[in-house]
Amino acid sequence: CGIVGYIGHRQAVPVLLEGLHRLEYRGYDSAGLALPHRGKARVCKTQGRVQDLRDKADTTTLRGTAGIAHTRWATHGEPSDANAHPHTDVSGRIAVVHNGIVENAEQLRAELTALGIDLVSDTDTEVIAHLVARELDGSESLEDAVRTALHRVRGTYGLLVLDARRPAELVVARNGSPIVLGVGDGEMFVASDVAALVHHTQRVVFLDDGELATIRDSEFRTSTLGVESEQTDKIPTTIDMVAEDYALGGFPDFMRKEIAEQGEAVRRALRGRLDDRFATAHLGGLNMDARELRSISKVVFLGCGSAYYAGQLGAQLIEELARIPATAEPASEFRYRNPVVDPDALYVAISQSGETLDTLAAVQELQRKGGRVIGAVNAVGSAIARQCGAGVFLHAGPEISVASTKALTNMTVSFTMLGLLLGRVRDLSAADGHRIVDGLRALPGAIDQVLTDEDAISEIAHRYAKARSMFFIGRVRAWPVAREGAQKLKEVSYVHAEAYQASELKHGPLALIDQEMPSVVIVPDDELLAKNLSTIEQIKARGGPVIAVTNADLPADAADEVIRVPRVAPELDPMLLTIPLQLLAYHTAIALGRDVDKPRNLAKSVTVE
Ligand code: G6P
Repeated sequence: CGIVGYIGHRQAVPVLLEGLHRLEYRGYDSAGLALPHRGKARVCKTQGRVQDLRDKADTTTLRGTAGIAHTRWATHGEPSDANAHPHTDVSGRIAVVHNGIVENAEQLRAELTALGIDLVSDTDTEVIAHLVARELDGSESLEDAVRTALHRVRGTYGLLVLDARRPAELVVARNGSPIVLGVGDGEMFVASDVAALVHHTQRVVFLDDGELATIRDSEFRTSTLGVESEQTDKIPTTIDMVAEDYALGGFPDFMRKEIAEQGEAVRRALRGRLDDRFATAHLGGLNMDARELRSISKVVFLGCGSAYYAGQLGAQLIEELARIPATAEPASEFRYRNPVVDPDALYVAISQSGETLDTLAAVQELQRKGGRVIGAVNAVGSAIARQCGAGVFLHAGPEISVASTKALTNMTVSFTMLGLLLGRVRDLSAADGHRIVDGLRALPGAIDQVLTDEDAISEIAHRYAKARSMFFIGRVRAWPVAREGAQKLKEVSYVHAEAYQASELKHGPLALIDQEMPSVVIVPDDELLAKNLSTIEQIKARGGPVIAVTNADLPADAADEVIRVPRVAPELDPMLLTIPLQLLAYHTAIALGRDVDKPRNLAKSVTVE
């Protein structure tokens, strides 16, 4: 979900709509805004996209220089006009937009209903509006009313509150869901993500968890949420992101743009981190000396979605380069299964956004049990980065498309550097170290080379776009590649896809193979090449079409379609073999007329359970 707020000298509605538009990748099933008008919050909201809100919002009546707005991804209550934010209290004076989840919403709803309050939506957010309204009488300020109301709320929130009788101020609060203030010249902005403010200002204040702020056009005051509230004197920092980072820059959509940016993103991730002299990597953010690095007995990667698949690639790399046992697990599973926490292990929490709640919860659980955990995070200043305290920043730049591409590539690049570092304080030879360093350096150029094949891959995508389902097959190094390939296709094209280990095919799924079921087979040029060719034979013998993605010299008739990628080092094959799968998913989605950047039912960061 996305939050935007404005208070200043301009008309608020255009500023709010523009901000929402930039946050739409965070959630897009409904949108709404509210402005103070003669003591009441004037609300306009709708199910659908920000464009639907734009069509509905009457800028002749919705006038004023302060307001709040929201774009929603449904958690409590289906997408509908009534469930869209902002939510108001009975008198219509208080309006609230909220990201996160109120865990005791049911109990609070029951209490409010018992007091005769009629709740008009199914959302957990509405209770906050009523609670704040009830506290106004006994409070000196809106800030006090919000603080007291929040003492009743259990759960997570990024919250923005408007009191229509105090049109010159807004109140924000944060607990587990990001809120950032943008400081302008006689105007202030609020957002859940800097993407909504960088085109207005680069001076920002990130609220901490447990912090609250009152903002006016030319000032802001931050304090703690606790009963004994204390001022927290925050000084604005200047962020180095610029508006262009969030613009399409001539590309048809963000997924295509971010695929194209991967070479540059990898260069950024490598900058200053490769050591040619000692054939190793420098990862200063880890804060670990050689002794500590040597003490690591096991590496465990935790992440959700594509970040989990990147973790699988990472585990593979760590085992190959450092010969330390390594595994990956979905953070969402880990946090619920009472894992045995090994004090000698290194846990790596992987997240593009740094906000995924399941991953954050896994980190907290680990820390509670004495686990040593570092972050592999793209968003600097995000919750997971802060919670971990140490780690590797991915430096992929802002990623807007819901389907992750460049962040995933940079995750794998970072894990290669981690493997190199851990390997070189153990028994990875200098010669192998140099080979990996050189391979990493050559990676951006090799990625660009894969991208020059886009037209051919697009043709293949169009040819198979009508398939009802597709297999993605790979083994060992190529297994996580196959999983990520299937995931991408599902996410953006809605074509069903299943990933399978090549060797397991014959133990069941082979029954599904026929002329209607294409298989994308990932074939690295490694010691398993002959095995992979025989897998392809098995599929072809059942009449299944085969699309091979490979860096090997396959016999001319080995597959129906062959997509070739260059090689930089065998250990890095998975990264390059992933790139055509992004293009395959992308062009299948385009062929089927999908909205690639905003796939149905999905959101870029999932900050709820
Ligand atoms: C969501 C997105 C996925 C992403 C996952 C993890 O489910 O739709 O594309 O891989 O979250 O996100 P993170 O920000 O933690 O990497």
